[in-house]
Amino acid sequence: MDGRDLVRSVRMVGSVQGLRTVRSAWRRRRADARALAPRGAERARVPGLLIGAEPGPGGGVVRFARSRLRVRVAVGGAVFWSWDGAEPLPSYALPGDGPEADPRARLEPDKNGGWQVVSERLTVAVSRHGALELRTPGGVVLRRELPPRWWEPVAGGPARWVQRSEVPADARFFGLGGRASGPRLREGTYRLWNTDPGGRFGPGDDPLYLTMPVQVVVSDAGTHLAFHDNSWAGRVTLREGEEGEGSGHDRPGACEVRMEGGPLRCWVVVGTPARVLRGWTELTGAPALPPSWALGPQHARWGFGSEQEVRRIAAGYRERGLPLSVLHLDIDHYDAHRVFTVDRERFPDLPRLAKELREDGVRLVSIVDPAVKASVGEAVFDSGMAVGADGAFVRDPQGVPVLGEVWPGECVYPDFTDPLVRAWWGGLYEERLGQGFAGVWHDMNEPVSFSPFGDPSLPRSSRHSLEGRGGDHREAHNVYALAMARAGYEALRRLRPDERPFLFSRSGWAGMQRYGGTWSGDVATGWPGLRASLALVLGLGLCGVPYSGPDVGGFDGSPSPELYLRWFQLGAYMPLFRTHAAIDAGRREPWEFGPEVLAHAGRALADRERLLPYFVTLARLALLTGAPYVRPVWWGAPGDRALRDCEDAFLLGDALLVAPVLEEGAVRRAVRLPRGRWYDTATGRAYEGPGQVVVEAPLSRIPVLARAGAVIPVRGAEGDLELEVWAPSPGRTGGGLVVRDMGDGWERAEVERYTSRVAAGRVVVERDGAEELVPYPVRVRGLPAQP
Ligand code: NOJ
Repeated sequence: MDGRDLVRSVRMVGSVQGLRTVRSAWRRRRADARALAPRGAERARVPGLLIGAEPGPGGGVVRFARSRLRVRVAVGGAVFWSWDGAEPLPSYALPGDGPEADPRARLEPDKNGGWQVVSERLTVAVSRHGALELRTPGGVVLRRELPPRWWEPVAGGPARWVQRSEVPADARFFGLGGRASGPRLREGTYRLWNTDPGGRFGPGDDPLYLTMPVQVVVSDAGTHLAFHDNSWAGRVTLREGEEGEGSGHDRPGACEVRMEGGPLRCWVVVGTPARVLRGWTELTGAPALPPSWALGPQHARWGFGSEQEVRRIAAGYRERGLPLSVLHLDIDHYDAHRVFTVDRERFPDLPRLAKELREDGVRLVSIVDPAVKASVGEAVFDSGMAVGADGAFVRDPQGVPVLGEVWPGECVYPDFTDPLVRAWWGGLYEERLGQGFAGVWHDMNEPVSFSPFGDPSLPRSSRHSLEGRGGDHREAHNVYALAMARAGYEALRRLRPDERPFLFSRSGWAGMQRYGGTWSGDVATGWPGLRASLALVLGLGLCGVPYSGPDVGGFDGSPSPELYLRWFQLGAYMPLFRTHAAIDAGRREPWEFGPEVLAHAGRALADRERLLPYFVTLARLALLTGAPYVRPVWWGAPGDRALRDCEDAFLLGDALLVAPVLEEGAVRRAVRLPRGRWYDTATGRAYEGPGQVVVEAPLSRIPVLARAGAVIPVRGAEGDLELEVWAPSPGRTGGGLVVRDMGDGWERAEVERYTSRVAAGRVVVERDGAEELVPYPVRVRGLPAQP
């Protein structure tokens, strides 16, 4: 039992449910002990010496004494390599058939007795012992994969493997899904196993709900993303390198991926950060475009408890003139916590409530938990048992549905890795739409089974369909939520074909952006939690999931008015801007923290409203290019080492640099600027980057800087679109993209490009490729007053 276990067990003991969780945990342990034989004696294996090669499309196969390595460059430049014959498919990360091989790339002998594939962006060199080097066209090594090692149980079973890699000494690691300690991932071991930390988490907690074997590595030599396409449990151990200060004795950065089974196959995408994300989403799918209303302010609480309370909250926003786009109903609106039900006593007429709110511009979003109360006579349980030949629920090796313990009590778990089950589950969303909900919030889908000790999930021996291939929970666990998201997304598309689905999910895996976004989960209330919120959003964005945000104010307890406000101000610049808290936590409405906080939160809300057209544009650009809305400050300058190490600020699109206040009591802060001129949007004062400046950060606002020359679509006082243009620096031009809000359907949108320049002392804005005048009012900022 570790510390986490102890806390959990103390919390659970005493209640009836507590006793059931103990029983369920023991059941899990016994099931695995029975079904998963200890690994016993193992045989270690390395590839051995190179014995031959066969060129093939996009590369070929290099044969070694005891294994073979496939290298294939795809159209678009992504490189795939795998051992032991693993192919790109089947894969939960890749939609469809995966990319075509680039016919121009071919395997050829190199001058060291190895083989190489030369492609446009990368040379892949394979050594005689099975090391694999990825070099830029200029010959600089981006990544060196050492020969892997496998351990195969003598009695049969999945082979464990380890793959060690080296990266340049100056490299920094990012990604691995949502990590509270990021965004820069320092030396340490990061587990790959989606996990509910149980109640709340801070920067020291790992793993969390959404892990991914996706590393983004940034060095002077270039940026690359490496994806080990394997959903089994694993660990990634990272060590940053050290530079020998010109002595020539650099210690490279190191990364070790250890998996408990599954294929050894990897995709690598290289280029600028923008190209890497573009390549990554070409491979794994474009991010779902949220409906525009999901870019507005949202509010949730576990425990609104009744329709009256929901109305009171909505009125609280309305009466104070605070914008509100979405209210979320948590599990307390269910009847006895059962999914797809409504507590009719406290929520007698949800469709009416939804309609009323809708008239005020507020949508309702429903939580959806995967676990289904295991009880004959329960409609969802009964209909699930009738799916296909074996029912919809995850079973043990003897064919008995696996039981776990969640909010409704003893539960079973739909096997979302089965297409039939996804279709059945998706049909249940009709009930949610009928209640008036406009979107869904997937929770508890790591999946969770409460447990006072050990892994709070299903037995690893539980059986899954895995699209008909068959396998157990060791392989299915990490993709469980991804498959649930697919079920939900496809259902919403089917049930409401004219509207873009709104779905976000606590857990997920590589490729989940195809179905929706995510959020922080139960981030602990406190200044470290505030910092962790930013780390999560940045890290997830680099893994291809652009839409996310924290529980503003933190999930548990009560933030101080100052902490609440600083969180609120950060949240206002995150794609998902939502206040939320636990049932036993303090309030999170902006008026609950005194008049000063209310005034400042009102300002943050107003700024979010003003920036909505910019968010709409960023959402479209994420769809088109994979670029996250929230980007690390090194996004456009990965070669700037000081920026690479900056973790307390971010770029919102190309135009804005947001520097949240993450420290108690701070009323000014240092900001590291990328190259060029930046204007403090509040004071208009100009700063020149690169370098560090100190800017004012009074309680009333956090510093937001605009790039000189930026053209930003904003909502004007009358609600119409306006262009806010920041004066280009002397002798330079600028510009920006605008995508108009085309509503919540599927209409395609045109990307309009504007350029800005200074002519005769005035800022001129022009639309590229168009004769006509700029169709929006233009407001120039950042110029000294004209005479
Ligand atoms: C856990 C989720 O992370 C949290 O947001 C939610 O309020 C609770 N489950 C209750 O549904």
